[in-house]
Amino acid sequence: MKKKWWHESVVYQIYPRSFADSNNDGIGDLPGIISKLDYLQTLGIDVIWLSPVYKSPNDDNGYDISDYQDIMDEFGTMADMDRLLAEAKKRNIKIVMDLVVNHTSDEHNWFIEARKGKENEYRDYYVWRDPAADGGAPNDLGSTFSGPAWQYDEASGQYFLHIFSKRQPDLNWENPKVREEVWNLINFWLEKGIGGFRMDVIDLIGKIPDEKITGNGPKLHEYLQEMNQKSFGNYDVLTVGETWGATPEIAKLYSNPERNELSMVFQFEHISLDEQPGKAKWDLRPLQLTELKTVFNKWQTELDGQGWNSLFWNNHDLPRIVSRWGNDKEYRVESAKMLATLLHGMQGTPYIYQGEEIGMTNVRFATIEEYDDIETRNMYNERIEQGYTNEEIMNSIYAKGRDNARTPMQWSNAAHGGFTEGTPWLTVNPNYTEINVDQALADPTSIFYHYQKLIHLRKENPTIIYGTFKMLDFANESVFAYVREYEGDTILVVCNFTGEATTFNFEAASEYGNGDILLANYTTAPTLAYNMELRPYEAVMYRLSADHGVTQSKKGNIETI
Ligand code: NOJ
Repeated sequence: MKKKWWHESVVYQIYPRSFADSNNDGIGDLPGIISKLDYLQTLGIDVIWLSPVYKSPNDDNGYDISDYQDIMDEFGTMADMDRLLAEAKKRNIKIVMDLVVNHTSDEHNWFIEARKGKENEYRDYYVWRDPAADGGAPNDLGSTFSGPAWQYDEASGQYFLHIFSKRQPDLNWENPKVREEVWNLINFWLEKGIGGFRMDVIDLIGKIPDEKITGNGPKLHEYLQEMNQKSFGNYDVLTVGETWGATPEIAKLYSNPERNELSMVFQFEHISLDEQPGKAKWDLRPLQLTELKTVFNKWQTELDGQGWNSLFWNNHDLPRIVSRWGNDKEYRVESAKMLATLLHGMQGTPYIYQGEEIGMTNVRFATIEEYDDIETRNMYNERIEQGYTNEEIMNSIYAKGRDNARTPMQWSNAAHGGFTEGTPWLTVNPNYTEINVDQALADPTSIFYHYQKLIHLRKENPTIIYGTFKMLDFANESVFAYVREYEGDTILVVCNFTGEATTFNFEAASEYGNGDILLANYTTAPTLAYNMELRPYEAVMYRLSADHGVTQSKKGNIETI
């Protein structure tokens, strides 16, 4: 596969509403982001994925867009956006925008027009259907945000489709005019010099609602090839598809360069493993490490050389990983570093979600009223009606609610974590007094500097970027260990995934010398041996050097003569 800059990049996701508030209205904004670019440069990232900043009535915090070529009032102006692009460029940081074109806001002009009646020229921009014979919805498709996916329109006596909230009507991708509009808006942003697009729920655009097919519809890849041809195919940009239903086979369709679709997928198989199969994301079960290994192993080996994947634990829809699969109390620092090491040692483009680099945790608000997220609130009401107790539902929200990721960024121990001097739109996690950027920057052993080192190691070591992947000790339920190999260089990653001390048997230890410790999350690291004693959440990355008197000349390698 031809090497591309985005194979070698690390992406940082910003959820602008919660990142930094420059005008103290309680809502993060573009000037706020600009003021933190130096911080991001210190971390070492190459790309910012900006969650939507377009005009929006904020039914789903910007994922409901009313004008794709304008900026949300609370976030600033187009001049601020241009300044962000220019300032980021000075620091060699590219800006990837969020492309949300499965649906628009109901306040988008196209929908305002479409709603005017069956004859309107925009009517066919959306998915309208007559009622079923009994006068009800055309079928029983459900919305991701609870309730039916069809909304009745009194005026015309028809239903329109909304896979998300009823204020997010689905666009009709079968209409060539809709596709044309989308290519135009993509080109508008590309001409401004952005670094690419993250494509929201892109696997839904080929849907056939009448057959209740939503994800991976038959025309999905045809549309993506057309998009590539008509827009970004002429630019050297990163395109990443949010692809919930992807398997490695499907991921190759999206991301094999020969097919001219997207740069990479962003798929969720690993991150759904603590959910009861076939049930909602709120229905939990414990994670089994060997299942996590199976999933990572499958993606690492099956996509190698044939496609490209994203590496992530977090985004604005997911709970904080240190609370989810680490320990956000006595081992917060160790477990956050372990999880980072495990992920960043693999093949793919790593994504860091704001606050992950300082080990921000989930939040527990006492009542549902303190939550903002539409998905959380709708689920709460639906489950109360279904007879769940308040406590049961709140426990699901504490574990999985999207507001876990959306509490404002914790910059300092000043009021509201230094995010704003006003009243934040969502309460800051009260642990900001201890967990904040100032603290992290002042402590050379902080999670922040561990991420900084991981980013640096990736840049210095093609093995981490391009190497093959081999899982070790598959059946071990405590230790996640693997080897990466590239052009004679070998890197070993060993991670204790648990809060208990444990032993790892490194079967091939005798073939190697002491190894070169590239990174560790305690001040000392275990010696490379057959029996390696690991402390709780201990993680180490070694460069292995064959103990055969070979001198390796690659930068960073130890000399073993
Ligand atoms: C996926 C986005 O990540 C999520 O935040 C949003 O609610 C839905 N798509 C709808 O746009």
